[in-house]
Amino acid sequence: MNGNNSQIAEQARALLGATKDFTANMANLSALIYQNVQDINWAGFYIFKNGKLVLGPFQGKPACVEIENGKGVCGLCAKSAKTVIVPDVHKFPGHIACDCASKSEIVIPLFKTDGTIYGVMDIDSPKEDRFSQQERELFESLADILTRACGGFN
Ligand code: SME
Repeated sequence: MNGNNSQIAEQARALLGATKDFTANMANLSALIYQNVQDINWAGFYIFKNGKLVLGPFQGKPACVEIENGKGVCGLCAKSAKTVIVPDVHKFPGHIACDCASKSEIVIPLFKTDGTIYGVMDIDSPKEDRFSQQERELFESLADILTRACGGFN
């Protein structure tokens, strides 16, 4: 991880250590990402409830409130249980456009202790091909810090 990214991860560890509350921690992590990562226009969470992804804490423009399992980039991430990077959202069939400024996107799965999906962390950029291996490492480590802070979402 580069210097700036490890600083963000360190800040997240300090910020999320104060409570186990899921909503408080997701709200603060979305704000930390939005304020500290360059060239992004949305950062937030969708939580898996009754077979759908439901909008959680976020920073950015208002977004769609429900995503069917398997739909869009978030749904693909939840269904495949893998990080999804889309360098050009206009070339992704079924991309759900919440902010028309978004050009690239990364979505990271969040797991409960038993290995089932709790939700996803979604970050959008107004720049094409914004998310590389470096950002993937940063966001996967932030997802891990969040999961631990929330006691594995149990
Ligand atoms: N673009 C996402 C939907 C959520 S917004 O980007 C906030 C998708 O295709 O799943």
